[in-house]
Amino acid sequence: MEKVAVVTGSAKGLGKSIALTLADRGYTLVIHYRKSRSEAQEVLGKIKKRSPRSILVNADLSWESEVKKMFAQIFAKLKRVDLLVNNVGGFLYKKFSQMTTSEFRGLIESNVYSTLFCSRAVLPVMRKQKSGQIINIGVVGAERLNLLEKSAPYFYAKHGVYMLTKMVAHEEAKYGIHVNMISPASLDTAIFKSSDFPMGRSVRYDDVVKALLFLISADAYYINGANIEVAGGFILGVK
Ligand SMILES: NC(=O)c1ccc[n+]([C@@H]2O[C@H](COP(=O)([O-])OP(=O)(O)OC[C@H]3O[C@@H](n4cnc5c(N)ncnc54)[C@H](OP(=O)(O)O)[C@@H]3O)[C@@H](O)[C@H]2O)c1
Repeated sequence: MEKVAVVTGSAKGLGKSIALTLADRGYTLVIHYRKSRSEAQEVLGKIKKRSPRSILVNADLSWESEVKKMFAQIFAKLKRVDLLVNNVGGFLYKKFSQMTTSEFRGLIESNVYSTLFCSRAVLPVMRKQKSGQIINIGVVGAERLNLLEKSAPYFYAKHGVYMLTKMVAHEEAKYGIHVNMISPASLDTAIFKSSDFPMGRSVRYDDVVKALLFLISADAYYINGANIEVAGGFILGVK
């Protein structure tokens, strides 16, 4: 049977890596973008041969009306969704005192609300299917209180994603739905040096993708509501 995966923010970065791997594993992909249209078309071009029914969708996930339209389009074309990866999540490295209201709101909306809206749009169909996987992308330390000078609002938002993961898993487990979270350390070294990481390098996309493949495998059947840190022993604020 065809398996459909929606990966939000899959034109670039981690989302693109996840989408390419899932296409290799036989999924039909929904490639989502907001502004990066040409990059998204390129990703679709790369997977079309092995995943011919894959489609492209466009939405700003901060708006529930756009999310609803996007999922209506997905269900009209593909009928089902087996896996939703809530990968979208803005980051801003700025002092709290210098952050505008709209920047603060943008962090909360792109991380928490995008996860909430997409999950809510997909859950009724997953309940009918009596199966489904949701993977939320967090960040290392999302379970704890992190008062980092220039990124506290981002961590506040990711903690919201962590809470959503737990809540939704608890409510939906009885319908055969799995909701888990993967929390990577910094994927680029713009802020950190390789020597800041206990394993001598920052996390790579494929480290995260491998954790995702495990979580959606039959071996992870009883893992629900979990947060897996893919951080190589890195702890925020600890040298
Ligand atoms: N990068 C890191 O070091 C790092 C570390 C730990 C965790 N993470 C988390 O990993 C995930 C992916 O990170 P990344 O660095 O690969 O992502 P990214 O490049 O910062 O963003 C991925 C995509 O998200 C889309 N996006 C942002 N806000 C949106 C909105 N309101 N509506 C719809 N799309 C929106 C953008 O799409 P368009 O370009 O099409 O507008 C963007 O290309 C994020 O959740 C991030 O918080 C990242």
